[in-house]
Amino acid sequence: MNTFAEALATNSFSPAATGRSERTIPASKSELEQRYRRVRRFSGKLCETLEPEDYVIQTMPETSPVKWHLAHTSWFFETFVLKQFFPDYHSMHPQFGFLFNSYYNAVGPFYSRPHRGLLSRPTVKEVFHYRADIDLLVSDLIESADEQLLAKLEPILILGLHHEQQHQELMLTDVKNVFWQNPLRPTFRKRDKIETSTVPPIEWLKSEEGLYWVGHEGSEFSYDNEGPRHRAFVPAFCLASRLVTNAGFLAFMEDGGYRRPELWLSLGWTAVNERGWDSPLYWEKRDGRWFTMTLAGMTELIPEEPVCHVSLFEADAYARWSGARLPAEEEWETASSGLPLKGNFVESELFHVAPLASPASAGKPAQMFGDVWEWTRSSYSPYPGYSAASGALGEYNGKFMCNQYVLRGGSCATSQGHIRRSYRNFFPPDARWQFMGIRLAKDLV
Ligand SMILES: [Fe+2]
Repeated sequence: MNTFAEALATNSFSPAATGRSERTIPASKSELEQRYRRVRRFSGKLCETLEPEDYVIQTMPETSPVKWHLAHTSWFFETFVLKQFFPDYHSMHPQFGFLFNSYYNAVGPFYSRPHRGLLSRPTVKEVFHYRADIDLLVSDLIESADEQLLAKLEPILILGLHHEQQHQELMLTDVKNVFWQNPLRPTFRKRDKIETSTVPPIEWLKSEEGLYWVGHEGSEFSYDNEGPRHRAFVPAFCLASRLVTNAGFLAFMEDGGYRRPELWLSLGWTAVNERGWDSPLYWEKRDGRWFTMTLAGMTELIPEEPVCHVSLFEADAYARWSGARLPAEEEWETASSGLPLKGNFVESELFHVAPLASPASAGKPAQMFGDVWEWTRSSYSPYPGYSAASGALGEYNGKFMCNQYVLRGGSCATSQGHIRRSYRNFFPPDARWQFMGIRLAKDLV
């Protein structure tokens, strides 16, 4: 199964086709090296509280052990930077190509994804040594590069760093699932007590019908699935001024939401019954009170927080119950126009959603960025004019444009420097282990 975070490994070295960058002026060596070190260091920082045993476990086929993420992101730089550009490069671990290639057939054979948790070797210590070796060589390469080489290196390094940031988010969501499986419910990071205040009611913010530009604009990096930029006709609609809260979702549950087939898509109703869903992932009722698993361990459910860890099916059923629907991705992008890319991202180090701090202002929606990836009702499909690159690059994004839905806005596990207004995350409709939440929309009739 694909996740967006796995969609970057190819054996081609055409960065313009792998990502999308129109920059013509390379960054300075020091800028590039600093950015490289900053992102790579953050992966290590996220691991500060982990013990060796925590790095190895894989709880679901969709998740990967932290150790695998750390090695795979280093394999990326080894494969696409060092092997291509470092003079007479000789890999110290040729077998790592098999272990840490994600699933790109054109790159070569790879180890079974659902079995990554069976690998006790290389050890965690060896993987950190591997990372350090790669970092040293990449730094050497940047420092020794002439202007021509630097211009080639820069887009691939930037791509590799965005790739690493995607895996940093997965490390957090995957280790949360590991800790959830453990009855001890360990703590990844302690969290201060959250101050809450009453969340204002949802306001419905009207957007006029019209032809709107959609997709990535500008010269900074984006993934190819964010383009081509194009015009889309968006009928008039209303968008909710804030995310759906735990209190809102509890009302749905208490109204029999998980027991009423008329609220559910057929596949969703099947999932509810086959998997025994009766609440979002990580919720647990104890003595009549709801608790939820966080990266700070089990905590009592905070009604004001945005509901999190729901599938598209649950988001859709909730929307139907409340007389609304999920937004289309073009609506979400239109409504986010002009909003600053600010929110509860991983840099806040809460590693969890936060209650709305201040209400929407001047008719603008709040919580659009950070906290939770917001499900849209849009199938993940190509924009008009999109075509996947040929060869290995065709495996990058295009081949995953089936049976998945688009999510927007980033989460509390996303790096702020990684998100864009045009960013299209995508997951299957039954996925719940990412920080996924709900914003409602309504037709204007
Ligand atoms: Fe990857």
